[in-house]
Amino acid sequence: MLRVILALFLVAGVSVASWAQDITYRKHIKPLWEQKCAACHNASAPYLGDFDENKKKYEAQMKGPRMDTYADLISFVGWPDTGAIMRRLDDGKSASDGKPGNMYQNLGGTEGERQKNLSLFKEWVGKDAWKLNRWEARGKVPAITKQDLDKIKVKY
Ligand code: HEC
Repeated sequence: MLRVILALFLVAGVSVASWAQDITYRKHIKPLWEQKCAACHNASAPYLGDFDENKKKYEAQMKGPRMDTYADLISFVGWPDTGAIMRRLDDGKSASDGKPGNMYQNLGGTEGERQKNLSLFKEWVGKDAWKLNRWEARGKVPAITKQDLDKIKVKY
């Protein structure tokens, strides 16, 4: 009997885990992004290279770099702007200085909503892949490792 109960728990646990792995761009991230990020990062915003060269101008227009497609968005997760999504959206719990990233506030109007939407982004990127490191080392922060990059999910 005990074995049967344990087996049932195991099955239930596994199905919860596989549900959690099914956060996809199309189903979860795109709609959330449209609601919370599009206003400043949509197709009228500049690509990162242009943005970097004319930062002041675009910031005055409330435009951040463009990330309105799947391909654009994942370039702020993996490469070339490695970890940008994680650094900017983190609530401070993964940051060495404990400070939230400056886009965290855009995740919602209440702390509850921000936390809920942050966990969606985390599940999508991959819980073990939520690293704030850049492609190259900066100061005391080491460069991202191949092992960390391997954990990125960002399912379409
Ligand atoms: C009110 C406008 C606004 C909203 C809404 C907004 N952003 Fe931003 N975002 C900006 C601006 C302006 C910058 C550039 C200035 C800076 O680096 O802080 C930026 C920068 C960023 C960067 C850094 C890109 C880089 O240069 O490496 C990321 C990542 C980012 N935003 C993600 C998001 C996400 C994800 C959302 C939605 C949850 C979001 N932003 C919502 C205006 C916005």
